[in-house]
Amino acid sequence: MTARQLRLGTILHGASGNMSAWRHPAAQANASINFDYAKHIARKAEAGKLDFLFVADGLFINEKSIPHFLNRFEPLTLLSALAGVTQHLGLVGTVSTSYSEPFTVARQFASLDHLSGGRAGWNVVTSPLEGSAKNFSRQQHPEHALRYRIADEYLQVVKGLWDSWESDAFVRNKESGQFFDSAKLHTLNHHGDFFQVQGPLNIERTPQGRPIVFQAGASEDGKKLAARHADAILRTSRRVKRRKPSTKM
Ligand SMILES: Cc1cc2nc3c(=O)[nH]c(=O)nc-3n(C[C@H](O)[C@H](O)[C@H](O)COP(=O)(O)O)c2cc1C
Repeated sequence: MTARQLRLGTILHGASGNMSAWRHPAAQANASINFDYAKHIARKAEAGKLDFLFVADGLFINEKSIPHFLNRFEPLTLLSALAGVTQHLGLVGTVSTSYSEPFTVARQFASLDHLSGGRAGWNVVTSPLEGSAKNFSRQQHPEHALRYRIADEYLQVVKGLWDSWESDAFVRNKESGQFFDSAKLHTLNHHGDFFQVQGPLNIERTPQGRPIVFQAGASEDGKKLAARHADAILRTSRRVKRRKPSTKM
């Protein structure tokens, strides 16, 4: 029997997801936008042998949003900076498939995997907040089932792009002048319902082969997406009584 290992991560979440936590005498009130604080937590997580650090994200705020949501770093930018000050910690960032382009996101996570020496993970979300549409020049926020159809095709495209180059495709032979082996280059040519992406991706295969895909969907569609595409499923460790999430915020 193979021994199974529990994988543990921690969330970098400013002074907390609580409305008033920043007011606690011991709280770092500007923690969400304080890189020294993020660095301290990341290094502590690494020293504590945690597997990964997780950065959540959303794309719409209003005056009622929790303080951490009002003023925080963009996850991939923050994780790229943390890659330089940690050695072993997995770096997992949230990006929405409803408000981004697969080519850009495939490239960003591949870059983070290279920058961190193979520690990048992507928490794939579909964005429940309707207001997000207003920040992305859209008339309408896609409804739940449609968001998951888009996410499914999106992940096919991103994974296809991550497979653009075989691991030894870049020969860089100075004597012969051969920079890459064209037999090891695979052009995606994706034509789907939502995306038309030719490829290939303009970055070589990553240290992990491809970044790790995380998913945390709770609905049937969410669980199906996770079963089809995810390497890891995120669950909170606390037993919390769940309310139906508000889509308005
Ligand atoms: C640990 C954990 C982290 C999550 N992080 C985010 C996040 O950063 N951004 C986001 O929009 N949703 C996040 N979610 C929400 C899920 O992606 C998902 O939308 C939610 O669980 C509802 O499921 P459904 O989308 O299948 O209806 C998170 C959920 C969990 C359990």
